[in-house]
Amino acid sequence: MSSLIHFYQKLDADFIRGEGCYLWDKTENRYLDMTSGIGVNNLGFSHAELNIEIQAQIQNYIHLSNLFKNTWSEKLSDQLVKITQLNASFFCNSGTEANETAIKIAKLYAFEKNIENAKIIVMNQGFHGRTLGALSATSNQKYKEKFGALLDDFIFVDFNCIESILDAIQQHHVCAIMLEPIQGEGGIHIASTLYLKQLRKICDQYKILLILDEIQCGLGRTGYWFYHQKAEIVPDILTIAKGLANGLPIGACLVNKRLNDLLTPGLHGSTFGGNPLACRVALKVLEIIERDELILNNKQKGEYLINQLQSKFTSVHGIKSIRGVGLMIAIELNETIDDISQQLFLQHKILINITQNKIIRLLPSFLITEDDIQYFCQSLYDFIKTQNINNKVYLE
Ligand SMILES: Cc1ncc(COP(=O)(O)O)c(C=O)c1O
Repeated sequence: MSSLIHFYQKLDADFIRGEGCYLWDKTENRYLDMTSGIGVNNLGFSHAELNIEIQAQIQNYIHLSNLFKNTWSEKLSDQLVKITQLNASFFCNSGTEANETAIKIAKLYAFEKNIENAKIIVMNQGFHGRTLGALSATSNQKYKEKFGALLDDFIFVDFNCIESILDAIQQHHVCAIMLEPIQGEGGIHIASTLYLKQLRKICDQYKILLILDEIQCGLGRTGYWFYHQKAEIVPDILTIAKGLANGLPIGACLVNKRLNDLLTPGLHGSTFGGNPLACRVALKVLEIIERDELILNNKQKGEYLINQLQSKFTSVHGIKSIRGVGLMIAIELNETIDDISQQLFLQHKILINITQNKIIRLLPSFLITEDDIQYFCQSLYDFIKTQNINNKVYLE
């Protein structure tokens, strides 16, 4: 038994190396990773060009205090600003910290504007992280109920429902609306383009901040640099993390010009945030995504994966729905299959992730091939047809 705190339900796996979208165990068994570390290893494991950047940077220094100029964080910020049309970035080490930053900025905005008892509208099924602020903005009661009083700054409304936003604005002093354009942990629920456009309009009308959390759906995964760009809008605050440095810890909170003027020394900070190693690698990640046209690739591979899944599983009654955008796809089952991750791992050497008990969440690496996709779909089909839930076989 390991001495680690048992916060995770772990697979019984011991991987010793990875390459591309594969991991290998001690006995040289190869596993296809359909999760990329929950949307982190977007450029796969052990990427040669990223390894060169890592090697080069550790020869100079890994950490540099935020009290000094840091060229890598400046270059990374410039690149992110260019991609997002926002104005400035703050770097931290994770998604939850990026969202803490966003929440603090929203509170600061309310303070500066003298909005009393200001509220932030967030979404049912939304997920923003595990620290107390981000957790307060997260909807799942199971994650929150044992932690006593959390921040009371949040109003929860239904996702994709403009009426409930307008109701909340009538009833409260709202300073911000915060959401994931595609809810990941909640089970891959996609904001409509119309909804995103309407949110932007309402935020402009009522001088409310629009905060988008693209920690899971951003960085090219959906066939756009950021999914909200499909709706041709720009948020006031954008949070990103996960795949930004392909596995090195980094998060970022980007803001528009108006907010940047509010943010002055001493209001926020992070010792490790913006460290040169993570920022240098992140810059290379962005370069590779653009150079190798991975955004278009993700759109095409995603369509291929959805088509393969739909053609294989149309007559399978155990599958409730198949949905997604680009390489962010959900296969929702009618019933939970016990130990499905462990069984697919053991029987088919495939790594998947389950969210909301019965949703298979696919977030494969951008390097996945059509052969990998075919192998995955066939293996899942072979597995599903052996299942017998409530005396009903999955396959009809
Ligand atoms: C949309 C979203 N926001 C925030 C987070 C929290 O990020 P982290 O685990 O890096 O703190 C996650 C993590 O899954 C996420 O999917």
